[in-house]
Amino acid sequence: MAPICRHLAALSGYVPGEQPHVAGMVKLNTNENPYPPSPRVGEALAAFDWRTLRLYPDPVSSKARERVARVCGCAPEQVFIANGSDEILALFTRAFVEEGGSLGCFSPTYSLYPVLAAIRNAQCKPLPLNGDFTCPMPPPDFSDAFIWTNPNAPTSLLAAPETIAAFAKTYSGILLVDEAYVDFAPADCMALAAAPDNANVLVMRTLSKSYSLAGIRFGYCVGPKPLVDALYVIKDSYNMDAVAQAVGLAALEDAPHMRANVAKILATRERLARTLEARGWTVLPSATNFLFARPPEGVAAADLFAALRAEHVYVRYFPGERTGAWLRITVGSEPEVARLLEALAGQGA
Ligand SMILES: Cc1ncc(COP(=O)(O)O)c(C=O)c1O
Repeated sequence: MAPICRHLAALSGYVPGEQPHVAGMVKLNTNENPYPPSPRVGEALAAFDWRTLRLYPDPVSSKARERVARVCGCAPEQVFIANGSDEILALFTRAFVEEGGSLGCFSPTYSLYPVLAAIRNAQCKPLPLNGDFTCPMPPPDFSDAFIWTNPNAPTSLLAAPETIAAFAKTYSGILLVDEAYVDFAPADCMALAAAPDNANVLVMRTLSKSYSLAGIRFGYCVGPKPLVDALYVIKDSYNMDAVAQAVGLAALEDAPHMRANVAKILATRERLARTLEARGWTVLPSATNFLFARPPEGVAAADLFAALRAEHVYVRYFPGERTGAWLRITVGSEPEVARLLEALAGQGA
C-alpha cells in the first residue's frame, strides 16, 4: 500500500463538536440556530423536481451568485459560492498559501485553520490575542495570507471594521475575513470586500448559523475578481449540489425571517449573559450566537463541562492555557437555556 504523504503522517484532523443523538438533549455545543430556517426553504424543497437530479447542477451556482451580489452591492463575478464556508477556507489556503509558505491567524481562534495549513504543508503562524482576548494588529509582513475571524470564535468578540480595514491597507498578503457569525454582530466588513480599490481582501459568510442551514452546506465569499477567479479555477467542477443551490437561494430571499430569528437569539443571549453574571460568571461581550464565559471561582470549567454532558446538556470546552478556564455556550431557545441554567445551578454554577 502506498504510504500517506510524509507531511500528513503525523497530522490529526480537525475534530468537530460532538453530534450526539439523545432524546431530550440540550445541544449548545456547535453554534447551530435553535429555530428552523425560512418556510421558503420548505417550499423550495417541496417544489424541487427530483427527476432533475439526473442532471449535473449549475457549476457556478449562478442564481445564488446573483442574489449574493445584489445583497452585498458587488458584481456577480466578485462572488464565490461554496459547499459550506469550510470549503472556502480549504480553497483559500490552497490558492493563496504556497507549499512551505505561511498562514496567519489569531490564537485562540477557529481550530480548523492550523489543520488546513498543515494539509497544505505550510506553516500556521498563530498571533496570540491580547490578555483581554482583543486582537492585536498583525505586522504588515506577518504571513502570506491571514484569516481574521470577526467576530472571533470561541471568544465572541468583534473587532472594529475600521481596524481590519487599516490592517488590510498595510498587509502584504491576502486577507480573508471570516464572518461566520456576523449577522449577530452590530458591524461587518462587507463594504471593504466590495470596495472598487480593494485588491487583497475576501469576506466570507455562511448560511449555517444565522440562516439556520448547517444541515445543507452553503457558504460564500466576496472580493476582487482576480481572487475570486482563483477560487473558481481550483474548485471541484460541481462543488454545489442542486438541492443546496435551491435551498440556499430560497433562504437568502427571506432575510427578514433570518433577522427575526437573530432578534430572538440576541434577546436570549442578553438574558443568559446577565443571569450568568449575577451568578458570578465572567462573560465576554458577545457579538455572536454564543457566549464565552468563565464559571465562578472554585468551579472548574472542565468539570462543569463533564457534569453537564452527563445530563445530556452539551456545551463546548477547549482545553489549553488560554481557553481551559472557559466554556463556549451556544445561545439556544428559551426552554433550552432554562434547562442549561437549571443544570448549572445543580452544579453550584
Ligand atoms: C469561525 C468559523 N468559520 C467557519 C465555520 C464553518 O462554517 P460552515 O458550516 O459554513 O462550513 C465555522 C463553523 O463553526 C466557524 O465557527
